[in-house]
Amino acid sequence: MWTTWRTGNYIVLLLVLIKESKQNYMDATRLMKKLFGEGTYDKRVIPANKTTGQISIAASMTPQQILDLDEKNQILRTIIFVDFMWPDERLVWDPSDYGGVDHVLVPNEMVWKPDMIMRNSAGMRMFFASKFDVSEVIVYSDGKINWYPLLLSETACKIDVELYPFDYQECEFLVAPWSYDVTVMNFSFGSEPLSTKYIQQNNEWHVLGSEVVFYLEHFDCCPEAYATMKFILKLYRRASFYTISQIIPCILLTILTTMVFLLPPESGEKISLGVAVWTSLVVFLLILVELIPRSATKTPILVYVHSSGEGLVHDMQ
Ligand SMILES: *[C@@H]1O[C@H](CO)[C@@H](O)[C@H](O)[C@H]1NC(C)=O
Ligand SMILES: *[C@@H]1O[C@H](CO)[C@@H](O)[C@H](O)[C@H]1NC(C)=O
Repeated sequence: MWTTWRTGNYIVLLLVLIKESKQNYMDATRLMKKLFGEGTYDKRVIPANKTTGQISIAASMTPQQILDLDEKNQILRTIIFVDFMWPDERLVWDPSDYGGVDHVLVPNEMVWKPDMIMRNSAGMRMFFASKFDVSEVIVYSDGKINWYPLLLSETACKIDVELYPFDYQECEFLVAPWSYDVTVMNFSFGSEPLSTKYIQQNNEWHVLGSEVVFYLEHFDCCPEAYATMKFILKLYRRASFYTISQIIPCILLTILTTMVFLLPPESGEKISLGVAVWTSLVVFLLILVELIPRSATKTPILVYVHSSGEGLVHDMQ
């Protein structure tokens, strides 16, 4: 008796749930028809403000992982995603008319998207939009759209190795629209324009800080300027590995070099010690030269130390 009552209760509950979810499903379908039905939305048309003719894109970047900083080719490889947010007046609805549905997720190719590029990209991909990007955009009932393109990014980064291995690098990401000048497309700052909270630690590079700069870029081609967001990551090299493998040998070799003076000439070993030290210095110098970028305008101080060590040995012979 009691079990039947309980089963009955469950069945009622189940029916209510089915009705609810069915209603929700119907509401969402009805909403999709209203937003994207035949002849209602054209994704080729930019949703510029009717009075100002301008659209403002809020952009914030989240680096996920630093894969590697290639000093020689001056390229930073990272996994990042950017949150682009903009208003599209055509996609506004009243949630109470649609069973409380206040946002929908739709494939990104269904809506208009800004043609953003990574201007200092050194890889294959410059445009954030891609036909391989199957991510969805979130459309809110007030017409705000959030798009989160994920990018395996390769960006050019100017390397300064003067203080190697205790160096500090600033790598930039330049995000800008490709076709629209600032009279049509401008940026606004999100609440946290560059978040390093979720970044996975890299073995070699430690993230010290970040900075975001907005500026206008003028090109010879066009009378109007282009809005650009510069996201800067400040990286510091974890030097302990290099201290053991390069700095300590450098110090020891320098001490050995001075030993050549102390060796009495009668021992007849002055030349062979000198040659041995000189060879080691050359080997270390070769390792260093492999590491530093060819186009570096500044030479690491460590290279000077090694070279002067070699000079000293030369003089003595
Ligand atoms: C369009 O611009 C006007 C004037 O700046 C502003 O009051 C209005 O809120 C804007 N409309 C939208 C949808 O952003
Ligand atoms: C573009 O946005 C910036 C701030 O985000 C603002 O200072 C600048 O006046 C805007 N430019 C135009 C042409 O709207």
